[in-house]
Amino acid sequence: MTTRILTGITTTGTPHLGNYAGAIRPAIVASRQSDFDSFYFLADYHALIKCDDPLRIQRSRLEIAATWLAAGLDVDRVTFYRQSDIPEIPELTWLLTCVAAKGLLNRAHAYKASVDKNVEGGEDPDAGITMGLYSYPVLMAADILMFNAHQVPVGRDQIQHVEMARDIGQRFNHLFGNGKEFFVMPEALIEESVATLPGLDGRKMSKSYDNTIPLFSAAKDMKGAISRIVTDSRAPGEAKDPDTSHLFTLYQAFSTAEQCAEFRSDLLQGLGWGEAKNRLFTLLDAQLSEPREKYLGLIERPADLEDILLAGAQKARRVATPFLEELREAVGLRSFRTVVQNADTGKKKATKGARFVSFREDDGSFRFRLLAADGEQLLLSRNFADGKAAGVVSKQLQQGGELDLRSEDDRFTLWLNGACVADSPVFADAATRDSAIETLKLALAPQQD
Ligand code: TRP
Repeated sequence: MTTRILTGITTTGTPHLGNYAGAIRPAIVASRQSDFDSFYFLADYHALIKCDDPLRIQRSRLEIAATWLAAGLDVDRVTFYRQSDIPEIPELTWLLTCVAAKGLLNRAHAYKASVDKNVEGGEDPDAGITMGLYSYPVLMAADILMFNAHQVPVGRDQIQHVEMARDIGQRFNHLFGNGKEFFVMPEALIEESVATLPGLDGRKMSKSYDNTIPLFSAAKDMKGAISRIVTDSRAPGEAKDPDTSHLFTLYQAFSTAEQCAEFRSDLLQGLGWGEAKNRLFTLLDAQLSEPREKYLGLIERPADLEDILLAGAQKARRVATPFLEELREAVGLRSFRTVVQNADTGKKKATKGARFVSFREDDGSFRFRLLAADGEQLLLSRNFADGKAAGVVSKQLQQGGELDLRSEDDRFTLWLNGACVADSPVFADAATRDSAIETLKLALAPQQD
């Protein structure tokens, strides 16, 4: 089975070395493995929670998109998109909001930290706190659950959010699944060695501490930042302790085991901090100068970036659109045109509650599914140019009569007036296929009272 990996990056700043080592690089490495199916996106709706500066939002989306591509993301292998290009995400957010316990969200770290700060400052606990901040984990749950991600690479500060996604997804499954698990339970994935890089001052590298090392800005800016890394006051010639030095931690995150061992032993033998900083710069520059060139090239062609991201959104929506349709159906947001078969008159178990669900594809064509009472898909129609044609076919099916079903290996098709109108799912074997045909016949047989 392929493992689906998904992660988002909030578009409020310019990516720094910490984002690169902690999220971007491991994500790109994972995306190259053949048994992984990766979804990476710009969390630009999340950005609006933290930032009300439109120019900064726009700039950051561009920079982050260019960063991922320059760092080696292959958009043919992965699905790369902007959250805000997927209207199914806010829609799912609402479905999830309606099952998310308020008490769960009360416990979210980011929200609690803001409340604590207000209380400390003698303010109203909710001063300046938006519903966006409060509901942040629900939006994130929608990001993850929309695509049924198995693994979510994140920093430690986000583990709680992934756990909340599980909680909320589980609750939805329980309430509406009827035994079916709509949502896969996601796991947070932490790259142990480099999960959080220290910044210049030793605290977590973060824009909010203003202690970052830039990633793709000019080499001299990177050099400048490195020169500001805080060290102890030991002079050249004095032994340094690598284990308490965040300069060493940074070096370790980018070096081979061999380079790292050498650096360690040199520090123990009295390597001066100035020289140590030069070595860190040389190490980073060797790895980043080529992607830096690529990055600058991309930033100059925003229209190309736009095309790449829109193509990514289309790819993502091929998953999101039909899945959301299923979820809307599950909660009761169903077309009035849909005939709910004999919920109370049917005697045969298989037919009870079987129903047609119509939906539209991205290309504007009309289709329908026939679902059994338990939500299992019995048939998926072919595409029809207009809703009427789809309606005629589903109506004919409901009128009963002999069905023209044609079996082929692990599937079967349904024919009407000489045209194939619908396909079955793919079955494990012929016996399962045949029993599905029986279920289908029962579901479509004329009702008796
Ligand atoms: N909240 C994440 C962060 O700040 C970004 C994010 C948004 C995300 N949606 C996500 C990460 C879904 C993983 C999965 O880092």
